[in-house]
Amino acid sequence: MVNYKDLGLVNTREMFKRAVNGGYAIPAFNFNTMEQMQAIVQAAVETKSPVIMQVSKGARNYANATILRYMAEGAVAYAKELGCEHPEIVLHLDHGDSFELCKDCIDMGFSSVMYDGSSLPYEENIRISRQVVEYAHKYDVTVECELGVLAGVEDEVASEVSHYTKPEEVIDFATRTGCDSLAISIGTSHGAYKFKPEQCTRDPKTGRLVPPPLAFDVLAEIEQKLPGFPIVLHGSSSVPQDEVDTINKYGGNLPDAVGIPEEQLRKAAKSAVCKINIDSDSRLAMTAAIRQYLAEHPDHFDPRQYLKPARENMKKMYIHKIVNVLGSDGKLAE
Ligand code: 13P
Repeated sequence: MVNYKDLGLVNTREMFKRAVNGGYAIPAFNFNTMEQMQAIVQAAVETKSPVIMQVSKGARNYANATILRYMAEGAVAYAKELGCEHPEIVLHLDHGDSFELCKDCIDMGFSSVMYDGSSLPYEENIRISRQVVEYAHKYDVTVECELGVLAGVEDEVASEVSHYTKPEEVIDFATRTGCDSLAISIGTSHGAYKFKPEQCTRDPKTGRLVPPPLAFDVLAEIEQKLPGFPIVLHGSSSVPQDEVDTINKYGGNLPDAVGIPEEQLRKAAKSAVCKINIDSDSRLAMTAAIRQYLAEHPDHFDPRQYLKPARENMKKMYIHKIVNVLGSDGKLAE
């Protein structure tokens, strides 16, 4: 059993309180590789932002759970080496789908876990969420749970259709589970194809898809029922069209990839939404830089040559999100 405090990590409790009161959101970036980890830490240190580094079940399968844990421990040491005396880094399990997986992560040093029972019947979701919360709180690990279903594909989590969170359920759910934060469904969606073309309109000037707006009325009702309670948005990549264009220009094929417009995320971050999950934008930034580099340097084959611009491009994207979308820059504890 390793406690996250011994690794220099923090849980989400204090940072969420400050984010809700301060009208900004904490970035939750998924990571699988060393380059992503380095870019996340560099961006957080340069902007003086707290940050959540999150690991999905798919990431654990890809990279190995133990390696990812050591990478998070390394992230804390790296942040200090870069000059941040007191980094606030959370190691979070994204979309835990069983009590056993959540327990395993808590036992190996995660400071926060998500139990996602959103596809289960309501009472079953409450029962397992409660079980995770009881175990996690013994070790001061914070727990995110989910009500409502997001559309899209996220590693092994996939759903064809979304069901908005029902505001009339949130008080009962939060009270009975004892969760520390609640992921809700208000129209965001996992992946780089968040909406089908028939759900969107098309900008006549650019020919690009314009997605339907998020359900801010549902968010407002939830906030009214649970004042000050930390709310989480999954599926919040914006799918930057310049990255999609670069990928397509250099041999990729991502027609009609579309995300959540950043101004809507900015608006959400000013509300009780205090954690915004971004994964696909990092994948796009990495792939765009690698495709461009390899197309322009067909004789290069040292991975460091193309991973370096990929890391730079991800870092630029992370800094942009922190400063211009979520507003968490300069928000480390005094
Ligand atoms: P995106 O696919 O929009 O980046 O969402 C990631 C996410 O919600 C991880 O849980």
